Order: sequence, then C-alpha cells, then structure tokens
Amino acid sequence: MSFGNSSRDQYNQPRCDVQIRWMIRRDMPEVLEIERKSFEFSWTEEDFLCCLRQRNCIGMVAERQERIAGFMIYELLKSQLHVLNFAVAPWARRQNVGTQMIEKLVNKLSQQRRQEICLEVRETNLAAQLFFRKQGLQAHNVLRGHYEDTEEDAYVMRYQLYPSDEVILPFVPRNRIADVEPDNDSDAEAA
Ligand SMILES: CC(C)(COP(=O)(O)OP(=O)(O)OC[C@H]1O[C@@H](n2cnc3c(N)ncnc32)[C@H](O)[C@@H]1OP(=O)(O)O)[C@@H](O)C(=O)NCCC(=O)NCCS
Repeated sequence: MSFGNSSRDQYNQPRCDVQIRWMIRRDMPEVLEIERKSFEFSWTEEDFLCCLRQRNCIGMVAERQERIAGFMIYELLKSQLHVLNFAVAPWARRQNVGTQMIEKLVNKLSQQRRQEICLEVRETNLAAQLFFRKQGLQAHNVLRGHYEDTEEDAYVMRYQLYPSDEVILPFVPRNRIADVEPDNDSDAEAA
C-alpha cells in the first residue's frame, strides 16, 4: 500500500452509514478504480485475485447507495487479523467510512482467537497514520526498506483487544523519525 491523497475541502460531504459485506467478483472494477485513485503503486486486478484465492484472505467492501465506497483485504493469521490493503474512495472520505470498516474488523476480534489487528503503513502516508491512530492503532516498530517499489520504511501499527504493557514507539510524523531512530538521521533528513 502506498500514499493516497485525500482532500476534505474537495469531498466535504455529510457523514454516512454504509453496509459492509463480502467483496464479490462484480465489485472488482470499482475496487480497482478506488485502488488506482488511492495509491501511487497500486495493486493490479491479478494482485487482488491472487490474494483472494488464498484460503485465509478475506475481501470486504463498504457499500453506499449501490456504490463501493471503500474496501479492505485482510488475512487471518493465527492470532491476528493482518490488513493487506485498505482504501476509501476519494468521494467518500472523511465521512466515517474507514472508521466503520475498522469497527467491523475490531468486532471480529475475540478473547479466544484473534486478539489483534496489525498492518504496515508507509512512512510518507501521514493521513493513514493519523487515521489509524484515531482508530486506536499504535505504532509498534519500523520495518526498514520494507517496500520493493521505493526505499521507504513501513510503520507496523497494531490494535490490541487487550493492550499489554510492552513498550511502543511514540507516534511521530515522518520528519521526526530521527527522534525515534537516532542511527538513521540521514534518511529522516532526506524525507
Ligand atoms: C486513510 C483513509 C482510509 C481514511 O478513510 P476515511 O473514510 O476518510 O476516514 P474517516 O472519515 O473514518 O476518518 C476518521 C478520522 O481519521 C482521521 N483522518 C482521516 N483521514 C485523515 C486525513 N487525510 N488527515 C488527517 N486525519 C485524517 C480524522 O481524525 C478523521 O476524523 P474527522 O474526519 O472527524 O477529523 C482514506 O483517506 C484513504 O483511503 N486513503 C488512501 C488509501 C490509504 O492510505 N490507505 C491506507 C494504507 S495503509
């Protein structure tokens, strides 16, 4: 996943309720359009299909008035839900659609099985970092050079149903990464 632009001024509409359901093949054109508008390095249709063919991968869409307003792809790991892709259509942003999709995921967590949601966010994607932080996810560690398409790092963000006492990274915007990782000042300066 990579950086997606959103503009509150451009798409300033009232908050809305959406229906969240399984993604089906017929959704793919709209999902691909959202993907292309959201990410510089976007998944292809084959990437989606390949992912969704895996038995443990789930695709869901948020639907509003018969339009796809957002989607998420996640995989079921032993004790986690791992979000692989997540985006809201530009026209539907800042109207709580993403929040409702995260709520759906949180409702799937349980004491007996998966107690955690985790995902990777690009270091440049401040909007998504702020969004996920608002949803209660916290930055836990940094994956250096995580992506094949750029030299960006990824922040691993996690939501825990039962938060532990383990140390977490303070949330910092990209230009303050050096405060967290003093050994990599040059990268942070260049960012
Ligand atoms: C990040 C994204 C999913 C947020 O979806 P959304 O439906 O617009 O989010 P919500 O309306 O539920 O926002 C809830 C809160 O998150 C925060 N937030 C959301 N977008 C934000 C932004 N662009 N800048 C700052 N804060 C933001 C705000 O606190 C917001 O509450 P507010 O609108 O009352 O201020 C959406 O902008 C998107 O699809 N971006 C491109 C794709 C992407 O980056 N995906 C994540 C990859 S890891």
